[in-house]
Order: sequence, then C-alpha cells, then structure tokens
Amino acid sequence: MVSKVIISIDGTSSTGKSTIARRIAKKLNFTYIDSGSMYRAVTYFCLKNGIIFNNKIEKKKLSENLEKILIDFKLNPINSQNEISLNNNFIDSKLRSLEIAEHVSKIAKQKNVRNFILKIQHHYSKKNNIVMDGRDIGTVVFPNAKYKFFLTASSKTRAKRRYHEMKKNGLNISFSDVLENIITRDKDDSTRTNSPLKIPDDALTINTEKLSLDELEKIILDHIKNN
Ligand code: DC
Repeated sequence: MVSKVIISIDGTSSTGKSTIARRIAKKLNFTYIDSGSMYRAVTYFCLKNGIIFNNKIEKKKLSENLEKILIDFKLNPINSQNEISLNNNFIDSKLRSLEIAEHVSKIAKQKNVRNFILKIQHHYSKKNNIVMDGRDIGTVVFPNAKYKFFLTASSKTRAKRRYHEMKKNGLNISFSDVLENIITRDKDDSTRTNSPLKIPDDALTINTEKLSLDELEKIILDHIKNN
C-alpha cells in the first residue's frame, strides 16, 4: 500500500492555521482535519454533561464518558465543508465561544483525552492524504509527516484576528478578554507535560504577522513543490 501524504501545520492559537490548512487541502485535493476542533468538541461535551463543573474537571466521569463520544469529519451539506461532527451532529459553530476557549486547555492536557484523539487522527491518515493543523501534529501525532509547517504571530495580532472573527459570529466579548485568553492558552499549551506545543525540528517556521492569506499560501505551496 502506498503510504498517505501528511502535511502538518502547527502553531499557537489564531495564527491562521485552520484557514490556510483548509485552503491548502482544497488546492491539493487533500482532506482537511482541524485537530483543535476535536479538543473543543470534547470540551463542549464535558460542559454539556456536567463533566466540567465549577471550573474543574470530574476526572472519573471524564474517563467513564470518553467512549460515549463519537467524533467524525464529514461533508456538512449546509456549507459543503468537511467539518467535525459530535455524536452525529454538526457542531463546529458552537465550538468557537469564549467559554469553550477558557476550558479547552484543561481538557487538552489530559492524557486519556490525548490518546483518545490520537487514535482518531491516525485513523484518518490511513485512508486519506491529509492536511492537519494543531499543536503537536508534526512532533507527536505524525513525526514522519512529509511536510511540516509552524506558524507564529504576536499575541496582539492574533487576539485582533480572533476578536474580529468572534464579533462577526455575533459573540459579545471584549478585546481584553480575548487577548488574555490567548496568552493563558499559549502558556498552558506550551508548558503542559503531555504533547506540549513546540516547533518540530524539521518544520518550516513562518511568521504570519504581515502576510496576506495569498502570500502565506504561496510560501507553503512553493515549499511543498520544492521539497
Ligand atoms: O486550534 P484551536 O484554538 O482550535 O485549539 C483549541 C485548543 O486545543 C488549544 O488551546 C490547545 C488544544 N489543542 C491541542 O492541545 N493539540 C492540538 N493538536 C490541537 C489543539
């Protein structure tokens, strides 16, 4: 069997990973997998089912319930995009709230949650050429990915992007809350014991601060073409 091609795009939150990963997948006719949405979906499930209670995770309840979580990626007929579904419901639009953002790092550092998600990530790579974005894709999930990218930008620029996106989606939030959440999540994601955010040794690091999406896309596609 010819092995599938994996493109990993890691980086801190709101560096434009998902947007560019989706574009690159479309250009190359690969499947796009948003790994952050998996951690957000588990967080959503935990909030809905009392597994996160008073800002704390009920760890026993979490491990008892993990097998009740069915995460899949399929075509959403409403917007024709490959999107996450949780127990057969498309929920992507519910995953972008500040409430989810405030709890997701706690969930993402649980070893059993990471192992659970790792299995799903590996399952997809068996069937398809994929572009996957996240924090640990090039380091832990697919250390042998053929092409690896790591995106960066200042926390202020990233907060501005996330703030405008949330406003556009009708969420009532303040810029300072978004900025604070980004700084806290950067710290939590890069200092956790399990699969911390770090730059893969063999990744191309790109600062997206002053790049348009077209410019970023060109850098990534040129790198793929030349390597
Ligand atoms: O990319 P995002 O903001 O949607 O990710 C949400 C959270 O999920 C992020 O704060 C950390 C976690 N995450 C992770 O730990 N590992 C990944 N591969 C992707 C996301």
